[in-house]
Amino acid sequence: MDKASSHRALVTGANRGLGLAFVRQLLARGGRVVASCRRPADADALQALAAEHPGRLHVLALSVDSDASRLAFARDVADLFDGLELLVNNAGMLASREQFGELDAQVMQQTLATNTVAPLMLVQALAPLLQRGVRPRVLNISSALGSIERADAFNTPTYRISKAGLNMAGVMMAHALNPAGIGVISASPGWVRTDMGGSEAPLTPEQSVASLLALVDTLPGVPAGPFLDRSGEPLPW
Ligand SMILES: NC(=O)c1ccc[n+]([C@@H]2O[C@H](COP(=O)([O-])OP(=O)(O)OC[C@H]3O[C@@H](n4cnc5c(N)ncnc54)[C@H](OP(=O)(O)O)[C@@H]3O)[C@@H](O)[C@H]2O)c1
Repeated sequence: MDKASSHRALVTGANRGLGLAFVRQLLARGGRVVASCRRPADADALQALAAEHPGRLHVLALSVDSDASRLAFARDVADLFDGLELLVNNAGMLASREQFGELDAQVMQQTLATNTVAPLMLVQALAPLLQRGVRPRVLNISSALGSIERADAFNTPTYRISKAGLNMAGVMMAHALNPAGIGVISASPGWVRTDMGGSEAPLTPEQSVASLLALVDTLPGVPAGPFLDRSGEPLPW
């Protein structure tokens, strides 16, 4: 990564799972990180990391599905950074055990607000900072479950719809941001051992995040929102 010591990154949903692993690896690379989470006071792992890395890790409050929270957050970030090299749209939710005939519109709306709408709104709010970054990139954490071509059964419909929508949001982000040199990537992290992925998942968050950051580093040109697996292979839309 260019100029690692001045690399500025922002990770949403950073208090656990993949988000926390992103924060650890970005700090290990020597950059500065904004780690957002809903309740900073309860984010023990992040607070401990902040104490270990004075001045390099900033833990800020953000509920990605709230307009007011995103607005306040964007102002807080602009007070800390005058440019941004990497925005990781990682925060996400998965409604499980959904059945046809019993779908809950509120659950669907909450999931779409979190997984689909929020990443695009956050990119919109932070675009001025990304424009001032060096080789700026947006990484949307998508899922292979968002592949329409691979949807062969009625399970986790809301999550699948939200990630398919996120993939389209990524292409729209790219249309808006590529002219300013800002690349956009939508990548599946694989099946990862987190609260969401469960204990049977084969990958650790560390393994998944290492490959995702390598992807951001090595993907040539200004990516226009491709939908990729963590090794950089295209996934079917
Ligand atoms: N694990 C997998 O196998 C897998 C596979 C494919 C894709 N993914 C994607 O990877 C990303 C990270 O997942 P994970 O496995 O690390 O899940 P996780 O352990 O369940 O963590 C989810 C994170 O998102 C945050 N979050 C949820 N709703 C939020 C909201 N409204 N505002 C702010 N933060 C919110 C959570 O915060 P709280 O702690 O406050 O709830 C938590 O930090 C997600 O986008 C997920 O869809 C994961």
